[in-house]
Amino acid sequence: MELSRDEAAVLAGSRGGGAARAMEILAALGRIGGAEDMVEVSSVQVSGVSYRNIGEHGLAFLQEWAGQGSKAVVPAYMNPGGADRRLWKSLGLSEDFVDKQERVIKALMKLGIKPTLTCAPYHAVPRPKFGDHLAWAESSAVCYANSVIGSRTNREGGPSAIAAALTGRTPRHTLHTDAGRLPTTVVEVGCPVPTASDAGALGYVVGQLLSHDPRGGIPFLRGVEPPTDGTREAWLKALGAAMAASGSVGLFHLEGVTPEAAASGPELRAAASRKVRVESLEQARRQLFSSKGRPDVLAFGCPHASLDELKRLESLLAGRKAVVPIWVFTAEAVRQKARKSGLAERLTSCGVVLVADTCIVVAPLAEFGISNVATDSAKAAFYLPSHQGVGVCFESQEDAVEAAVAGGPFTGRHALSAGTGTGA
Ligand code: F3S
Repeated sequence: MELSRDEAAVLAGSRGGGAARAMEILAALGRIGGAEDMVEVSSVQVSGVSYRNIGEHGLAFLQEWAGQGSKAVVPAYMNPGGADRRLWKSLGLSEDFVDKQERVIKALMKLGIKPTLTCAPYHAVPRPKFGDHLAWAESSAVCYANSVIGSRTNREGGPSAIAAALTGRTPRHTLHTDAGRLPTTVVEVGCPVPTASDAGALGYVVGQLLSHDPRGGIPFLRGVEPPTDGTREAWLKALGAAMAASGSVGLFHLEGVTPEAAASGPELRAAASRKVRVESLEQARRQLFSSKGRPDVLAFGCPHASLDELKRLESLLAGRKAVVPIWVFTAEAVRQKARKSGLAERLTSCGVVLVADTCIVVAPLAEFGISNVATDSAKAAFYLPSHQGVGVCFESQEDAVEAAVAGGPFTGRHALSAGTGTGA
């Protein structure tokens, strides 16, 4: 692992104790990852922000690092925390929890990390470009940046992302290299995947199929195309988020669609050593359906919703009032835009709450009295039962909105009607 003169100087303390410690961490991780050198990153996204996840030990670690005086040298953003910083009281969160959450945010801000508090920074801050090297941490953001944008990032842990922020560097290995981005498995898709929730179910299956790949699964998908209307981005986002959740996939190629596959599809496809088929999503839908009865809330925005997704929700509601509350998780920057344009007010009048700074999986749902959730997100449906102990009705956004307006039933119709199975 070779350090440049500048990097060696940082390691020796030229930019303070915090940056020296950061370079030490990165050099050690680079050696483990087989990197020969470091690469400059254009942005960083830091995870481990929710107090509910990191607790007092995590907070003390951040405060101690922040006390060493170094600051981020590239744009660095925070993943969601555990509380909406503006609406926490009306949502029913305790002051004690919010106070602890604020202490985490304060420590990260002292390190120069911006409180964007979103898992979809590409909706809230300048979007990275094709080929940019990044050090992002949240799994769906990593998968989106690598696959849909064509930027290059490994999935960072909380400390390694902070280290990248303080140095502007990350070790060059795995998804930063051409060889590390070659697909391992061709996935032939033989069933329709029309909606974003279907894309999530497909991603969930693909992640499961690739989860035992020894060098980390990278699928090359064929036989499926995202919609060409305004739901295209949400579809791609849902696909990547679910495979990142069920199989730790950090990059997918989609024939003719994602930038690397569009540029050199045949060469990429030839690099994969394995082939599998997905014939149906029924089994996935059944596995993701764990409903315990009538949902207390309908949750969208996992990953965080874009302004276009909010507009689409408005058109689905068509001025009708939802009987079951609809929470949409998004970035504060997106919520501000929705407020300015009047969209937020119109959604509110239909029974929608725009929740920012946090996410359905890390927010303390028990404090809200929530024990059953309906969602169109396969990622949320995968994590919520184990992380929050709540039941999940997994269904398409269209069906969920209709049920929310009518007051039910939330049947997960798709879970019970589609065809089944995957095969290698
Ligand atoms: Fe984002 Fe939380 Fe879902 S971080 S992707 S909203 S689990």
